[in-house]
Amino acid sequence: MTFLFWFAVYAIILSAALARAGHRSGAMAAESKPCERPARILVVGATGGTGRQLVEQGLARGYAVTALVRSPSALQIDHPQLTVIQGDVLDYGSVETAMRGQQAVVCALGHKRFFYPTRILSAGTSNILRAMEAQQVPRLICETSLGIGDSAGRMGLYYTLFTIPVILPFYFWDKTRQERVIAASSVDWVIIRPGALKNAAKQGGLRHGRGVGNFFSTVSISRADVADFMLEQLESNTYLGTAPGVSW
Ligand SMILES: NC(=O)c1ccc[n+]([C@@H]2O[C@H](COP(=O)([O-])OP(=O)(O)OC[C@H]3O[C@@H](n4cnc5c(N)ncnc54)[C@H](OP(=O)(O)O)[C@@H]3O)[C@@H](O)[C@H]2O)c1
Repeated sequence: MTFLFWFAVYAIILSAALARAGHRSGAMAAESKPCERPARILVVGATGGTGRQLVEQGLARGYAVTALVRSPSALQIDHPQLTVIQGDVLDYGSVETAMRGQQAVVCALGHKRFFYPTRILSAGTSNILRAMEAQQVPRLICETSLGIGDSAGRMGLYYTLFTIPVILPFYFWDKTRQERVIAASSVDWVIIRPGALKNAAKQGGLRHGRGVGNFFSTVSISRADVADFMLEQLESNTYLGTAPGVSW
């Protein structure tokens, strides 16, 4: 009983810390600047679940897509408009090479090193932003997660009281740093915070915005729908400089 009490205290304090440390959107900026359709986009995390969808759907939308991947053989997508560059987000040189000639970046970076502190997401995203600034690439669309900043708690009780405090505390803490480096950058950005990800077909009809997610049950969404929503942000200023949640 005592253990459960102190565990609940820890989980609630962690959730409050994630709320404070992540990006807090505040009022949405009234954006009147024109939004040009990019011709060439860089996909980071292209061999992952969301990233593969970003590549396939980006090509289907007519973008010339460059995929920055650690293992080109893992991508297995062949298309005349696809360029694959081998690299690592933690290696600034390879990120800058991939950035040359791009007009926007979509990032679905993730990893499975859950059980010890890492800075892969935040350090990798810092390299992406540094290369964007060096190569004058104007727009970043980046996937993080519900449960951070002003969406803290919105992954539902199971995530708030078990998954995040037990399995993902270091991972989510690095996501708060990742959101902060993006928000502090000079590029145009949109942070996308999905609910729990599923490998299912695109179904559309998404909920998106600040109020997405639920404090009791866990909302979900397919990686295909997240990718579709991320790509839409390349050609819209609706959520510029904010961090909308997205779910079915
Ligand atoms: N799972 C969920 O329910 C859930 C819910 C909300 C948000 N999210 C977040 O959504 C994001 C995408 O998740 P996902 O499951 O679709 O992706 P994922 O399958 O975890 O893929 C992550 C991608 O990041 C790449 N990557 C990792 N380290 C890298 C490095 N150092 N340099 C270059 N690339 C690197 C991986 O490449 P390799 O193939 O080489 O490893 C892979 O392509 C993650 O940040 C995740 O935390 C997940």
